[in-house]
Amino acid sequence: MNIVLFGPPGAGKGTQADIICGRLNIPSISTGAVLREAIKNSTPTGLLAKGYMDKGDLVPDSVVTAIIKERLTKPDCAGGYILDGFPRTLPQAKYLEEMGITIDVVLSLEVSDEEIIERLSQRRLCEDCGAPYSLKYGPPKDTSRCDKCGGRLVARQDDMPEVVASRLKTYHSQTEVLIDYYREIGILKTIKGQKEIKDTTSLVFKALGIT
Ligand code: AP5
Repeated sequence: MNIVLFGPPGAGKGTQADIICGRLNIPSISTGAVLREAIKNSTPTGLLAKGYMDKGDLVPDSVVTAIIKERLTKPDCAGGYILDGFPRTLPQAKYLEEMGITIDVVLSLEVSDEEIIERLSQRRLCEDCGAPYSLKYGPPKDTSRCDKCGGRLVARQDDMPEVVASRLKTYHSQTEVLIDYYREIGILKTIKGQKEIKDTTSLVFKALGIT
């Protein structure tokens, strides 16, 4: 099954993608994570992307479509995959079609802007292994250290309040249009984001027909 996890920044796409891929044994592909890794390694793509990401803007379509094209040819994608954060513009959605890729379902996570601002102010990531935490909804034992590897926990650069505001603006002006696009195609399923991660997961599993 090829799944798109769609939603505003901080809606819980990455959180749910990790849970679904564990359950269905398919890879989760996050364009945001690939770009952050490229930044960490100071690759040409990373250096280009940083300027956009730090401001809360979208990275150019040509850059992210190249990432997707390369990743989807890997053998582990043969049995299906989850796209987390791609597509985010109409040209990106059309690019998937041009590649002959069939998306089976688009799960759209709905969370209010107010809730997102709260969630992202509480998010921390492990500097070493990338494990995500929420200081409020899934806190680590020690608020400064990763439970899994002991690495330092840091806030994401683009989780600063002014960048979150810009990311939300970008979502509403450039990405939200895809909701109507996929609704018209008939593959959109909307999921109301719940206060508890496990309650959102129950709705996601129900939408995917997983018991
Ligand atoms: P990306 O990394 O994809 O960021 P995003 O879409 O803004 O999404 P986030 O990763 O911030 O949030 P999420 O929805 O995954 O939520 P999470 O599960 O972490 O992209 C970053 C940047 O890269 C973009 O701004 C853009 O510049 C660029 N980019 C990426 N893809 C691109 C593309 N296709 N085109 C162009 N540019 C692109 O959850 C958030 C927090 O909430 C966590 O702390 C979590 O623990 C908590 N949480 C999750 N679920 C719940 C719940 N139910 N209740 C309470 N807390 C919860």
